Amino acid sequence: METPASAAVAPAAVIVLAAGAGTRMKSRTPKVLHPIGGRSLLGHAITAAEGTGPADLVVVVRHEREKLIQHLTEHASEVTVADQDEIPGTGRAVQCGLEKVSATSGTVLVTYGDVPLLEAETLRELVVVHEQAGAAATVLSARVADPTGYGRILRSQDGSEVLGIVEEKDATEDQRAIDEINSGIYAFDLEVLRDALGRIGTDNAQGEMYLTDVLGIARSDGRTVRALVTDDAMMVEGANDRVQLAQLGAEMNRRILERHMRAGVTIVDPATTWIDADVSIGTDATILPGVQLHGATDIGEDAVIGPDCTLRDTEVGARAEVVRTHSVLAVIGEEATVGPFTYLRPGTSLGRGGKIGGFVETKNAQIGDGAKVPHLSYVGDAEIGEGTNIGAATIFANYDGQNKHRTTIGKHVRVGSDSVLVAPVTIGDGAATGAGTVVRKDVPSGALAVNAVGQRNVEGWTLRRRAGTAAEDAARAALEGRPENGATPTAGPDADDNKEHQQR
Ligand code: UD1
Ligand code: CA
Repeated sequence: METPASAAVAPAAVIVLAAGAGTRMKSRTPKVLHPIGGRSLLGHAITAAEGTGPADLVVVVRHEREKLIQHLTEHASEVTVADQDEIPGTGRAVQCGLEKVSATSGTVLVTYGDVPLLEAETLRELVVVHEQAGAAATVLSARVADPTGYGRILRSQDGSEVLGIVEEKDATEDQRAIDEINSGIYAFDLEVLRDALGRIGTDNAQGEMYLTDVLGIARSDGRTVRALVTDDAMMVEGANDRVQLAQLGAEMNRRILERHMRAGVTIVDPATTWIDADVSIGTDATILPGVQLHGATDIGEDAVIGPDCTLRDTEVGARAEVVRTHSVLAVIGEEATVGPFTYLRPGTSLGRGGKIGGFVETKNAQIGDGAKVPHLSYVGDAEIGEGTNIGAATIFANYDGQNKHRTTIGKHVRVGSDSVLVAPVTIGDGAATGAGTVVRKDVPSGALAVNAVGQRNVEGWTLRRRAGTAAEDAARAALEGRPENGATPTAGPDADDNKEHQQR
């Protein structure tokens, strides 16, 4: 595979076959909709197909048609759907697909919806090899240690020419010994394909219209048939059951990690790092062990993620540090720090140099530049101005049991520890709250809000109400100025709970 794929001309069409049943998945979900690397198998197949820039991109469906169409509508609305009828086989599937192809000449690529590692680059190369040879058909083949189950490539005596493909079930013992297999991915001349498909029957071991027969027909007609042999057998492997799904998922992850490392990202422990196909990571970012980056997550340059983070659809700014954090649909600003043990829910945004610390949960919260929520807090439906500090254990009480309300906090505010901010409420710039304040009314700029209940000490309470406990012993010893576990106290408990001193 040495031909430069850059010379590739966009094909007239790509037909992606996805009409098969996929029963070995044993799943209520159609096989091609199972995800790896953050996309469905079909999504990967479509991405590769799109990468060739085809005039038409057709997906052939039949089994679980409605679910596939719904998925395509949501994730790939640009593709054309073709329905396969009751006539079985890959040949019939392509014939049905061709009904949706508007071109009358040119190159048509055929791929499978369940082959997720196939890359656009390889398809472009297939087009180049095919067109440069003036071939009627070019099959992407591979040599494998165990060819069981695959169609085998039949070559001329000296191996230079492709004669056709024989299915395992129709093969002789000698043919079964051939280790060059048909990947199921091809480039065809459109006119030859249409013509040959009109001539194939179902006279074979499976009673199906075999697409593979097109190669033999073209060859018999004196046309050129080629094979492009890939040395990357996994790239053309299909996922038929969940064991293969996991293997291909792990291989895809390995390839994604390698791509990022080669582009200048440090990944300390590839074995415990999972990164979806659509994630982007800036140069010199460091991914520590135990990190999963999902969806459209975007990591800035020099950021440090991990250990132990799960980030989904999260944007992390340059030089930010995120430790032991679970985050969904959040934006973390440049040079900000998050974690450890932090839960960022959708709509969280943290400004430049801000901090969201340990055991903090945030949701729909815009936290300004340099603002800090360092410890043990819940911040929901809130706006926090720049430079503001939220004391430990502050709760934004955003829900009254029926509706959610917003809290707005200005710049450079000091919210005291254990404050409860009962929304809707506004705290002005430069204001403060005392520890334990329940803020129910707006606090003007520059004001201090305090409303903690005055402290009342009920003296001797433990001696009376917790008699016989270690607490009583300790209290009595302290009050009597003697070491603990000393002589039995002389004074009996004074049962007067009303003896209290109040302090404000
Ligand atoms: C096919 C090839 C075989 C090749 C193998 C690679 C034929 C006759 N055989 O075999 O040479 O080595 O793929 O995996 O083509 N599909 C449809 N409609 C159908 C039947 C299949 O859309 O009526 C789709 C399936 O969804 C799947 C693909 O075609 O994506 C291959 O179908 P499958 O049944 O797995 O083909 P094999 O018999 O394995
Ligand atoms: Ca198969």
